[in-house]
Amino acid sequence: MTTTELTNAFYTAFGPGRAPRCFFAGGRVNLIGEHVDYNGGHVLPCALTMGTWGLLRRRTDDRLRFYSLNFPQLGVLEGTLSAVRFQERNQWTNYVLGMLFALEERGIRLSSGFELLIYGNIPNGSGLSSSASLEVVAGAALRACYDLDVTDVELALLGQRAENGFIGLNSGIMDQFSIALGREESAVFLNTGTLSYEYVPVALGDNVILIMNTCKRRTLADSKYNERRAECEEALKDLQRVLPVKDLAGVGLRAFEENKHHIQNPVARDRAEHVVYECARTIQACQKLRSGDLVSFGRLMNASHDSLRDLYAVSCKELDTLVSEARRCPGVLGARMTGAGFGGCAVAIVNKRNVEAVMDAVGRAYEEKIGHPCAFYVAGIGGGPREL
Ligand code: GLA
Repeated sequence: MTTTELTNAFYTAFGPGRAPRCFFAGGRVNLIGEHVDYNGGHVLPCALTMGTWGLLRRRTDDRLRFYSLNFPQLGVLEGTLSAVRFQERNQWTNYVLGMLFALEERGIRLSSGFELLIYGNIPNGSGLSSSASLEVVAGAALRACYDLDVTDVELALLGQRAENGFIGLNSGIMDQFSIALGREESAVFLNTGTLSYEYVPVALGDNVILIMNTCKRRTLADSKYNERRAECEEALKDLQRVLPVKDLAGVGLRAFEENKHHIQNPVARDRAEHVVYECARTIQACQKLRSGDLVSFGRLMNASHDSLRDLYAVSCKELDTLVSEARRCPGVLGARMTGAGFGGCAVAIVNKRNVEAVMDAVGRAYEEKIGHPCAFYVAGIGGGPREL
């Protein structure tokens, strides 16, 4: 959709008047470093060129009016600045209200209400962070339209706070951070324990990032996500009785092997093993990407998936099928699930010459085994949030 089309849709939804300002924020795909961002580990995500558009116009009263071109059947949803609270019936607007909640917690109260039109082209529930994208685009629009003194890092933290304190998902910082701080053709190598980060050029040569969508909604994701987090905390507590560490990322491989028997619950032990090894893999993978050793990078991606499947138990039949079918194809350097899991997407590094054949072979095998089609996107790596 063009900005003009979006602006026209805005007038149709909210009526004529002053022109809205138009903003965009991407989605994200994580290359490696999964389920470590709430354990202080490193992650290596990229912002996507797919994302969310937000058009905002300030009002003079305290009313809030929302319209999404993705959910036209919901019509215009309404609220007021003085009653910002989570309610099921607020639907997708809860993510925007969550940003207002997070701002208010910081003592930032808007001087007036607004109208907001949203349009996104990230498939919903696909594990490419459509919700973080919505939070960041809303935050970027509010920052610009109300002259708020908020940095990009703060924007990411506000988004995480919206998830944790308003939506009720104890997610880490990876999604909002990679979207708020994204850079074209680069991955964000982020230390989630300190929030220090570096950009790493995604120089793939003859290869592309292929995203494979199970087209299965991540139904279990939220409850299982919080459960995994609790299991990690349990393992950490046991280890802290014998090791001076503040998070699982701080436990080296050797220290883990020497002390893992202190973790009482075998399930928590497996979860911790995934985290400790995934943290090491991600640091290694980043070095491989920097040195252009994509074959090794691909192998680390494969190891990451196997660990998420066997130790962390966040994969599913659909993701495993995409990954194993992809790995059988010539030209595939590595494949793994990406994001929270339980559905959503997998990501693979594939030689350009083989992409068509891979989509064909994986698509056919997937439909035969799972009973419905999957979808593919060659990922474009985009920049941070911006005004259009
Ligand atoms: C979700 C969360 C992130 C991260 C991933 C798993 O996307 O929002 O914070 O934990 O799952 O790596």
